[in-house]
Amino acid sequence: MCGIIGYVGELQDAARVVLNGLKKLEYRGYDSWGIAVIPSGSTAVSIEKHIGHISGAETMLPKGSLAIGHTRWATHGGVTEANAHPHVSCGGDIIVVHNGIIENFQELRDELSQHTFLSQTDTEVIPHLMEEYGKIPLEQAVSKALQRVKGSYAILVFSTREPEKMIAVRKESPLVIGLSSNGFFAASDAVPFLEYTTKAVDLDDGEMAVITRHHVEYYDIPSMAKKEKQQKKITWTAEAASKGDNAHYMIKEILEQPSALRNAVVQDKQKLTAFAKEVMNAKNLKLVACGTSRHAAIIGRYLFTKLGKKPADVYIASEFSYFADSSDADTVILAVSQSGETADVLDGLRKAKGKGARILSIVNVMGSTIDRMSDITLYLNCGPEVGVASTKAFLNQLAVFYLVAYTMAGKTEEGAKQIKDAAHVVEESIKLNNEKMKMLAQTIKKFEHVYFLARGVNFPIAIEGALKLKEISYVHAEGMPAGELKHGTLALIEKGTPVILINPTDYTYSDSLSNGMETKARGAFLIGLSNQINPVYDFFIQLPTPSNELLYPLVATVPLQLLAYYTACEKGLNPDKPRNLAKSVTVK
Ligand code: G6P
Repeated sequence: MCGIIGYVGELQDAARVVLNGLKKLEYRGYDSWGIAVIPSGSTAVSIEKHIGHISGAETMLPKGSLAIGHTRWATHGGVTEANAHPHVSCGGDIIVVHNGIIENFQELRDELSQHTFLSQTDTEVIPHLMEEYGKIPLEQAVSKALQRVKGSYAILVFSTREPEKMIAVRKESPLVIGLSSNGFFAASDAVPFLEYTTKAVDLDDGEMAVITRHHVEYYDIPSMAKKEKQQKKITWTAEAASKGDNAHYMIKEILEQPSALRNAVVQDKQKLTAFAKEVMNAKNLKLVACGTSRHAAIIGRYLFTKLGKKPADVYIASEFSYFADSSDADTVILAVSQSGETADVLDGLRKAKGKGARILSIVNVMGSTIDRMSDITLYLNCGPEVGVASTKAFLNQLAVFYLVAYTMAGKTEEGAKQIKDAAHVVEESIKLNNEKMKMLAQTIKKFEHVYFLARGVNFPIAIEGALKLKEISYVHAEGMPAGELKHGTLALIEKGTPVILINPTDYTYSDSLSNGMETKARGAFLIGLSNQINPVYDFFIQLPTPSNELLYPLVATVPLQLLAYYTACEKGLNPDKPRNLAKSVTVK
């Protein structure tokens, strides 16, 4: 789970181009980083590797027109300089960065026992394996080596023997080629090259790009048959991917939710109708996602049953693989993913697709692997999300689910109108609660445990609120259906324990209130999120009233995002860089 970027072209400071690109990929993983460059007029390589964050880093590397870089989130081998990429062959002439996992690395490493390995990584087998093929053209060495490798990869390689050529290959890990008038990029996603170009080509599994200063050629591996690839225009801008004047990406992304929601409504009508029809007609409907996207999927399930009378199952993607075998041609899988690259989701989709299932998806990143695997994709249209903790993508996932559910009920226009109205209410929710959540954060930061309760369509907001708080402020938080409290968790409530009750005056109101009172009776510090104050609350978070009670999840999410954000800030933590976590989880 790492980010990679390479550049070849007219810009004479490739190492700094790559360093800046890595800074924009840091959200993919960030325990260490490294860059390799061929200095101008030289055939030797210069490499720099460091442990720690890259954001403020500078490089001492010399100028040159070809460089590759990597930001690492450790999987095989600890966080050391030796384990940071790039990795090189014994002769020092083959240089590699890799995102993914080489599953048979131990077997290959045993076979290559006469080589000197300098790291514990799986990646290092690649340059050594290529070295075994002698002085053949670089693309052939890459192709031969990959025939031996099992696993997933996006790899960038160059050789000091052919110093103007970079090879990019992919299988089950993301890689996109950027085409600018000053040269070419290959990167894990388009964000790091957006300031240079919005023209791009998605590399598919089993494809290779051979990139020189003036050309990119595409081949199939292993046949090495040349192929034509379709160019695409990326709609995101460099500005949308920067945090502007905001202290962190997370707060920028929370604050831009009203405008993001307005964009969610802009869907291709025909696709939306076809999507809703497939959901409606599916004999078996399975929603598959991870993390925050799964919470959106649970709300989707409530909406499908409420508005479309359509039952569905929601699966945690890492567990879905164990059920995927039961899929068949009557199964529709609906994948939900911001990145469109989450390995666990992809794994389940491949298995289900292999059994004949139809694949629908709701994703943010156009051209991502899940998007390309899908029979129909609906996009979130929220622009690039960089903060590791998902915020605006979540709200837009909900918006797309509302649109699909309303379309299932034959009321697309009404759904679109309600989302647009909700954008105003979300704006109001930010205004009402921004300062208040700063204040509440000063209390919450002192606690080790916080509980979030809700019912019905609001229940997923309890688990999402808890996830946000724990992932960025490291306060242990548990969200659950309020009715489940008395089956165990109530035993943990003691004097002063914060309990956050999501309790709008909708169909869940009175039952949720009773559960809140049960905690209060055991001494809880009861924090109520509602459109209506109640004397039982020790602290009240005001929710504005949306046009339809089913929209409360959109409104209630905002203060909880702000609370998590300010609690992390109060604790001196960087909310954009939660320890041990990465935004795009491309390993199983
Ligand atoms: C990681 C991110 C979460 C995200 C989850 C699923 O854990 O930190 O914010 O919800 O992956 O990612 P996806 O891209 O599939 O939505």
